[in-house]
Amino acid sequence: MNRLQNKVAIVTGASSGIGRATAKLFAAEGAKVVVAARREAELATLVAEIEADGGQAVALAGDVTLEAFNARLVAAAVEAYGRLDIAYNNAGTLGEMGETTGVSEQGWNDTLAANLTSAFLGAKHQIPEMIKHGGGSVIFTSTFVGYSFAFPGVAAYAASKAGLIGLTQALAAEYGPKGVRVNSVLPGAVDTPMYRDMNDTPEATSFITNLHALKRVALPEELARSVLYLASDDSSFVTGTASLVDGGVSITRT
Ligand SMILES: NC(=O)c1ccc[n+]([C@@H]2O[C@H](COP(=O)([O-])OP(=O)(O)OC[C@H]3O[C@@H](n4cnc5c(N)ncnc54)[C@H](OP(=O)(O)O)[C@@H]3O)[C@@H](O)[C@H]2O)c1
Repeated sequence: MNRLQNKVAIVTGASSGIGRATAKLFAAEGAKVVVAARREAELATLVAEIEADGGQAVALAGDVTLEAFNARLVAAAVEAYGRLDIAYNNAGTLGEMGETTGVSEQGWNDTLAANLTSAFLGAKHQIPEMIKHGGGSVIFTSTFVGYSFAFPGVAAYAASKAGLIGLTQALAAEYGPKGVRVNSVLPGAVDTPMYRDMNDTPEATSFITNLHALKRVALPEELARSVLYLASDDSSFVTGTASLVDGGVSITRT
């Protein structure tokens, strides 16, 4: 408890799945949280749940592909809570899938915008605010896909998520001297709406589950605990990492 006491955090993609679970855990650990996604009603429900549990949160609905929204998110953190210490840039989409030679330029660009450009825009506005108070922790959600495992039909997703690892390293090197740590978490399959959209038959579920050494997929709360580690001072000497939380997908060939 209280591992994030006196910390202020932004969590994007908080209306659902991993982001929602992480926002709740951050608040339970004492952080004041600004939750973001496009769906306003889901965010309002989340804020009500956090407050009912004795935590503090405010919501801002919008699109993380827009620079102005990323700037407003940081302003909302400062306005509501006076500072920014932690930013979990987690919003993402599978984007346009299918045989790569059939992927539209628009679909490619939209996927990169949602998964990679959003992370750049988030960090661009978050890091200066963190530096004002001696530093902070920026975290992105990448994936094992495109890092330690390749699937056909997800080129834009894989490329955008692998791009986050380069961004992580560049930012960690650039802002480490100013006290800002930057890491990516690389989940295996996690039981969220995104996972269920893609794995909607018993065969698909069984195939994905079997890729993991643990022979199961994760709960969102399991990812949230790993993100908490990267957000908190427990990981004070950890920066620039691609942190696998993947149930062993990366070491399994069965
Ligand atoms: N589930 C998995 O197996 C898995 C594995 C590896 C990595 N990941 C990554 O984990 C992250 C979270 O995914 P999830 O599984 O929790 O999926 P999810 O339940 O579908 O959540 C995705 C979240 O991203 C938000 N979002 C998407 N596009 C956005 C945009 N343009 N602007 C603002 N918010 C946006 C969605 O909110 P709105 O729709 O309300 O905007 C939602 O809150 C993603 O980056 C995903 O790629 C997931």
